[in-house]
Amino acid sequence: MGGDNTPLSNTLASVLDNLSTTSSGTLFGIVAATGIVAATGFALTFGQAEVKGKAATELLKGTSLREDEVKEHWEEYDKYFQQNAGEGVDEKQKAPKLVDTFYNLVTDIYEWGWGQSFHFSPAIPGKSHKDATRAHETMIADLLELKPGQKVLDVGCGVGGPMRAVASYSQAHVTGITINDYQVKRALHHNEKAGLKDLCTVVQGNFLHMPFEKESFDAAYSCEATCHAPKLTDVYKEIFGMLKPGGLYVSYEWVKTPKYDKLNPEHVRIVDAICYGDALPEMRTYLEIVDAAKEVGFEVVEERDLALPPAGPWWKRLKMGRLAYYRNHVIVSILSFLGLAPAGTTEVHEMLYKTAISLVEGGETGVFTPMHLLLCRKPETQETPAVAASA
Ligand SMILES: C[S@@+](CC[C@H](N)C(=O)[O-])C[C@H]1O[C@@H](n2cnc3c(N)ncnc32)[C@H](O)[C@@H]1O
Repeated sequence: MGGDNTPLSNTLASVLDNLSTTSSGTLFGIVAATGIVAATGFALTFGQAEVKGKAATELLKGTSLREDEVKEHWEEYDKYFQQNAGEGVDEKQKAPKLVDTFYNLVTDIYEWGWGQSFHFSPAIPGKSHKDATRAHETMIADLLELKPGQKVLDVGCGVGGPMRAVASYSQAHVTGITINDYQVKRALHHNEKAGLKDLCTVVQGNFLHMPFEKESFDAAYSCEATCHAPKLTDVYKEIFGMLKPGGLYVSYEWVKTPKYDKLNPEHVRIVDAICYGDALPEMRTYLEIVDAAKEVGFEVVEERDLALPPAGPWWKRLKMGRLAYYRNHVIVSILSFLGLAPAGTTEVHEMLYKTAISLVEGGETGVFTPMHLLLCRKPETQETPAVAASA
């Protein structure tokens, strides 16, 4: 995920630009600190919270973790997600716990720099990022042929950007599940503010052990979320179990494309960097997605990479935001130094900055896509598939 212009970053950057011409070190320090605090206060008060997700209040003091926990959690994350030359992490089964840690560390920063939808979308000429994001989300409702009153499951719902778009567009009732308790709070807050609390429900839970009644949903979707599962068949099997017979499931999957060559060190480096910076236990190939869906009993209706031309580049927004991201990084570093942001925030932001570069590389080389579409159906009647039978 990336960052782009916010009132906070604009204001603080101009304060920093002006201050950099000051000659006396002491004076510089005092004026810089005063300026930053004043500008921060301004941005927190007048920031466009609803558009970008939130103002920077919680980023600065941390609400997903206690202030003193950030550094420790960051170190734990950093150690676990080191990649094994194209093979993912060791001990993949530990991923859900560390994915939860990841979202404790990044949820505020994502909301601050990116918004309420934690996914990419193809750039659409003449449309804003916000409109392109909505189009990518409402396409889910169209693919699922949703009707008012139906019950839909959002697997890995984040703070609920897609959920609100799908619910308001289709008038179907969406239940989201996320492993991260803090995201539940944020999603509930946004749902209420958007006037959608009657159409949107959010629960904390592990999508590898769904806390819902079997066959209780008409349809399901996952938007850039099942990539976090240690084993794809495990989460697909759960989703399959939640659907009524005939129910549709659509997923936007993060995968290695046909252009990825495992013998090319550059390809391996790019994909490893994406996995490390986005809390993925491994990166699957596009072929593994389809195989996993069929293995648990789905009929595959459609699968294709939504990033392929004529789609506009999904990484454009990240690339355009690179300068702003760098500037935000300077701001975060100064705020950490002044004790206004918890220790460890700088390291997390630096990781996200570097990951944004790797994502752009993945997009430009075409070896990676975050939007391999999988549309599948649970058969009306079925022979019990081998994986479902062992559940
Ligand atoms: C990249 S975010 C996408 C969020 C949302 N779909 C969106 O597009 O805004 C991935 C989401 O998957 C959730 N997730 C990852 N592993 C999970 C697990 N084992 N159980 C439940 N949720 C999980 C994370 O908590 C996060 O909300």
